[in-house]
Amino acid sequence: MCGIMAYIGKKEAYPIIIDGLKKLEYRGYDSAGVAIMNGSLSLYKKQGKVTFLEDFTDGKKTNGNLAMGHTRWATHGIPSDYNAHPHTSQSGRLVMVHNGIIENYEFLKTLLKEKGFNFKSDTDSEVLVQFIEWYQVKYALTLKEAVRRALQDVEGTYAIVIMDTIAPNKIIVAKKENPLAIGLADDGFYIASDAGPMSKYTSEVIYLNDEEVGELNIDGSFSVIDLENNEIASIVTSISKSNDNYDKGSFDSYMLKEIFQQPDTIKNCISTRLDVANNNIDLKAVDEHKRLFKNTNRIIIVGCGTSWHAGLIGEYLIEALANVSVEVEYASEFRYRNPVINQNDIVIAISQSGETADTLAALKLANEKGAFTYSLVNTPESTIARHSDSVSYIKAGVEIGVASTKAFTGQVTLLTMLAIKLAIIKETINPSEVQKYIKAIHQLPTLVEGALKTKNVIKKIVKKLSNNNNALFLGRGLNFPVALEGALKLKEISYIHAEGYPAAEMKHGPIALIDENMPVFILATNDSALNKLVSNIQEIKSRKGIVVLIKNEDQIISKELADYVIEIPKVEEILCPIISSIPLQLISYYAAKFRGCNIDQPRNLAKSVTVE
Ligand code: M6R
Repeated sequence: MCGIMAYIGKKEAYPIIIDGLKKLEYRGYDSAGVAIMNGSLSLYKKQGKVTFLEDFTDGKKTNGNLAMGHTRWATHGIPSDYNAHPHTSQSGRLVMVHNGIIENYEFLKTLLKEKGFNFKSDTDSEVLVQFIEWYQVKYALTLKEAVRRALQDVEGTYAIVIMDTIAPNKIIVAKKENPLAIGLADDGFYIASDAGPMSKYTSEVIYLNDEEVGELNIDGSFSVIDLENNEIASIVTSISKSNDNYDKGSFDSYMLKEIFQQPDTIKNCISTRLDVANNNIDLKAVDEHKRLFKNTNRIIIVGCGTSWHAGLIGEYLIEALANVSVEVEYASEFRYRNPVINQNDIVIAISQSGETADTLAALKLANEKGAFTYSLVNTPESTIARHSDSVSYIKAGVEIGVASTKAFTGQVTLLTMLAIKLAIIKETINPSEVQKYIKAIHQLPTLVEGALKTKNVIKKIVKKLSNNNNALFLGRGLNFPVALEGALKLKEISYIHAEGYPAAEMKHGPIALIDENMPVFILATNDSALNKLVSNIQEIKSRKGIVVLIKNEDQIISKELADYVIEIPKVEEILCPIISSIPLQLISYYAAKFRGCNIDQPRNLAKSVTVE
């Protein structure tokens, strides 16, 4: 994972690097470091977040117009100052930041040790910079040539920025499977793991392709070659100036801000897509390939984590409304199991970041096998978006909290519209049903606002339960994936062990866990599953479980069945996953808050998982 930011040009580099690293912390926040060249090299590294690095450099020399920075998610070696990037070579001449994994690092390290190289860190990245220096010195090569030749012997993935302190008028960059964007501006080059941090400086970006090496000079010239030394004419892409707001505003965390943004982000997602006049859903990505979508009999959805949960909801909706068979796969499994893909199958990749390594690899596999690929992503110009045959954006705006909230409800909203759209194309739905659903989706933002009003009730309930170390989330039908999502949310930010189950599965094992210390959150908002669910609640209550019932305002369920009740607005049943997930987001937020956890940056995690 890890985030890279670098600059070479006319401006002071350090503030650009720090600002960029803060925007890249979604890729990891175990440690941060910066190297600035100004006559001599100033190198600062600190375990922890970018703000710790900022404090550490306070009052120290940071001026210079060539610098690189890194925010790390540890793979090889514990989070520490000495494992933080940038790493230097044996002589101290080369300095490098790296995102990726050098798979044959042990082999290379042994080789280098035999040649007298010493290592100051436990990282695979240090091995790479040392290896490049070995090539450079042994064959008297320019840095660009040393990088090109060394990378031919490297197995694994990389996005690197490297400079030679003896020739500090250029930066060399290279990438394979990890993203690297180069922003072109009159004042210099901006290099980053994604285009976000540079979007306020430039609208022209080159996305380096795999196994390409670029040389960016301080005089504004640049060139790109591949590993075989062929010159590459890179394509310059236009990016839009980012209006994304990176402030928390009046909220204590990005997560809470993002939870409360949902009425607006859902409005954004639906506003140009609900075609009330024509009783239709406008999904350009589908309309442009209408025949393909009409003829498909099988859809495979791939994703990870929360996006996978959204995919499961998509499966329920698409099968029910459009009568198309849907399979939902963990991208990490799909990519390695030689899946059967038939002609006319459509593979849908779901991803907030658009950078998740496993989802990207699954998408590439689907492309190779000749499937039509369609992605539902939040981040514009992300790698997954760029590698898909077709794309629809979730339009939730930048999501910073590691726990996905507004992106999830955006994904589910988009999938709901997709299911209706497919049903229209395949003529499995009648116009009055379409009208009913469009009307209901139109009301969603208001209903989400209503669901957010449960905040204070939830705060009181969670205060009483936050010392329990386990929890169960149960739902049936469309609320089963929501239960999975509720459990994931709770464990990732509050470190409470939580599991999500289809309610009826309890008696096949998990019911053994129920006692007076087990809070059980039950999603009862889908009326079609209600009667069966009530029996499941009774089974839990009679075993002394603590029942927290999440129900619609108008549902009549005996209060005796529940220890606590959270009431949310009633919605059309196909939309219940969106409304039901709001209280679960608030439950995990308050649990993390009462337990004193870092809500936006939970331990061991990163927002975007760019390693497999
Ligand atoms: O960016 P993606 O949607 O591809 O990310 C997938 C998962 O890493 C992500 O949803 C993760 O599970 C979240 N932290 C959950 O809140």
